[in-house]
Amino acid sequence: GRSPVVLGIESSCDETGAGLVRDGRLLGHAVASSMDEHARFGGVVPEIAARAHVHAATPVVRQALAEAGLSLGDIDAVAVTTGPGLSGALQVGVAAAKGIAYSLGVPLYGVHHLAGHVAADTLEHGPLPDPCVVLIVSGGHTSLLLVRDLARDPIVHLGDTLDDAAGECFDKVARVFGLPYPGGPAVDRAARDGDPRAVAFPRPMTGPRDDPYTFSFSGLKTAAARWAEGHRAAGRPLPVADGAASLQEAVADVLTRKAVAACVEHGVGTLVVVGGVAANSRVRALAEERCAAAGIALRVPPLRLCTDNGAMIAAVGDLLVRAGARPAPLDVSIDPSAPL
Ligand code: KG4
Ligand code: ZN
Repeated sequence: GRSPVVLGIESSCDETGAGLVRDGRLLGHAVASSMDEHARFGGVVPEIAARAHVHAATPVVRQALAEAGLSLGDIDAVAVTTGPGLSGALQVGVAAAKGIAYSLGVPLYGVHHLAGHVAADTLEHGPLPDPCVVLIVSGGHTSLLLVRDLARDPIVHLGDTLDDAAGECFDKVARVFGLPYPGGPAVDRAARDGDPRAVAFPRPMTGPRDDPYTFSFSGLKTAAARWAEGHRAAGRPLPVADGAASLQEAVADVLTRKAVAACVEHGVGTLVVVGGVAANSRVRALAEERCAAAGIALRVPPLRLCTDNGAMIAAVGDLLVRAGARPAPLDVSIDPSAPL
């Protein structure tokens, strides 16, 4: 018979996403964002995010179905992000997913948000090779992972950040530079007119005694703030483009250096870069350059699949269904600080 249609729902942060996947293929998806509502606060406000999910949950499911040319009754399984993320935000998506699964009498699967980011790439480039190294870089995460079979094997954490996430670093420095929120895209745009060698920002955690796969970005944030403050104190205008280009160069250098080292060290031939920061033009360019030099295949999903969405959660659900994984009970809880 026909392969099952899996609905995925994502609501861990400020994006409400719904996606439909069958047999590893994306049938349709829709995303609503409350980003604009958080802009004047300079970061995601949990209460506002949760309320926006209540507003958007049903409409995004309806839109995803319309895009796929399907109706509610065509859904054979529901997958939902149970964590990590903002607890109030997660609760809205999980409650919606339970309602749909219960009313349709179909199984429910709980999905780890990072597994979703990893699986996003399969919707564009097909099944992931086993093993592969995955660099997840977003506003909340900076992790290097060793991934085997997503549906069966636990994901191995090679390293994480000790403090700020890479996206958080972009967002915070952008604020100091007077650039709009979210900072990542703004820094990327500003950097186009700047010189990446203008400011010698540090390359944290790249010393001989530092762990090769552990990141740290709070020192970079402090260095950028000090650089900006120095200009202000001296009454000089801030060369924002140079600062943005130099910051971006430092972040891209550290991220790609460690990711490629992880591949070489573990004899892995494929690097996957996912998460919102994978959209960064310099991260992409440097990853391409260094992977090519090391003979490593690089996979980066398209922008719309890099940031939070429901399709990536449906992609994991689809893998779980096809692997015969056990569904979650309908009283499954959220896990805001879920480990991998
Ligand atoms: O994956 P994502 O949508 O949400 C999570 O954090 O899970 O990632 C959002 C992050 C934000 O910090 C944003 O500033 C960053 O990704 N980002 C970028 C770019 N586009 C988005 N950072 C650098 N350059 C970009 N072009
Ligand atoms: Zn995310």
